[in-house]
Amino acid sequence: MATEILRIAGGRPLHGLVSVEGAKNAALPACVASLLTDEPVTLQRIPELRDVSTILFALSDLGKRVVRRATSVVLGSDRDLSCEANAYAVRQMRASFLVLAPLVARLGRAVVPLPGGCAIGNRSVDLHLDGLRAMGATIEEQGGIVRVTASRLRGARIQLRFPSVGATEQLLMASVLAAGESEISRASVEPEVLDLVELLRHMGAKIERESDTFHIEGVDELHGATHEVIPDRMEAGTYLLAGAITEGEVRVEEAVREPLGSFVAALEGSGLSVVSDERSFGVRGKPWRSIEVETAPHPGFPTDLHPQLASFLALAQGVSRIRETIFERRHTYVAGLRSLGAMLAVDQKTVTISGVGRLSGGRLSAPDIRSGAALVLAALAAQGESVIDGLDKLDRGYAHIVAKLRGVGAEVERETA
Ligand code: UD1
Repeated sequence: MATEILRIAGGRPLHGLVSVEGAKNAALPACVASLLTDEPVTLQRIPELRDVSTILFALSDLGKRVVRRATSVVLGSDRDLSCEANAYAVRQMRASFLVLAPLVARLGRAVVPLPGGCAIGNRSVDLHLDGLRAMGATIEEQGGIVRVTASRLRGARIQLRFPSVGATEQLLMASVLAAGESEISRASVEPEVLDLVELLRHMGAKIERESDTFHIEGVDELHGATHEVIPDRMEAGTYLLAGAITEGEVRVEEAVREPLGSFVAALEGSGLSVVSDERSFGVRGKPWRSIEVETAPHPGFPTDLHPQLASFLALAQGVSRIRETIFERRHTYVAGLRSLGAMLAVDQKTVTISGVGRLSGGRLSAPDIRSGAALVLAALAAQGESVIDGLDKLDRGYAHIVAKLRGVGAEVERETA
């Protein structure tokens, strides 16, 4: 079978403005929230990504009418919802598991495969399921499929063990239509979660926030709404690094600067300075120094920018460390970076990066969305040519990547090999 590859001639400084898509991680739950009403939900600034196509497929399979035009999507209803989620869609992407709560809230019953086929005891969705149980749902698992029933969910006080993004979104969508009041504490307050809250409010939900606690007063029904999702800070951060790592200067829209606060602070710590005008900002400076970073829930350093930062630090002066506290398997970029000449050592949660003077192009494979982006950054900075396959991973999170990189001066081609 023909594979697609990126061919990158590295070593060219990138300069200019990159337009930022709507945030993938805000768009996915926003699409799912449309299950909470039969009225049309119109979403704008929806990125043209594989993950978005996957969630829209899952929703139309459940009975939603999906009309997608470029970056806008209208989700309406012209038939009854089904309570059984498409197994293919859920196994493709963890975010599809979010359909669980809206289906139970609307239909009293949902049948959804566990993401990646994990067993119910697995920690990866325990917070979602424990929360639903606290709201009166009955949960059974057999053969990797979870069956949840509740004639009507009832409000509950739920304290999460960890501020999981997905569990917070799942439980917000469960509680907006539940009977009575709910409280979700130690919740995730990532900007993408707050964007979902904003959409739910537009749909008539009653949600208040007090630091990392949400107070929800359940309502009997929600209505349609129009909502524009926030810009993608992970995409923006990746392009800022594309400028910095090539010793150029790429700018992105000003709106992502605040949500990227800890990321920008880390780059400033490495000696880069922020340059800005009213509408856009960028980072520049060379050479850059080593830093120590620990990923953490928002407002901490985002785990989704850890691999890309590692590529940048591979060319810093001195020894840097990144401690990963969110995901156990974040270090999938290490072998690829080493093959280009980077010096990295992994010890449990910490990657130690000894900066080198240069990287040399090579043959790479994108292991997942963010590590794939990290390898693209390294290839842009490396001397000589690199070839990267596994583009289906990159396509999950980066729309129009070739056009955007070319727009700032990169020599990159997408070819069928
Ligand atoms: C979301 C983002 C992802 C980002 C991550 C952390 C989307 C679509 N994806 O993923 O890009 O990297 O947040 O910012 O928004 N966990 C449990 N039990 C649970 C739920 C999670 O133990 O019930 C653990 C997970 O195994 C993981 C960690 O908590 O180690 C983080 O997960 P979570 O915050 O839920 O991330 P996602 O919502 O999956």
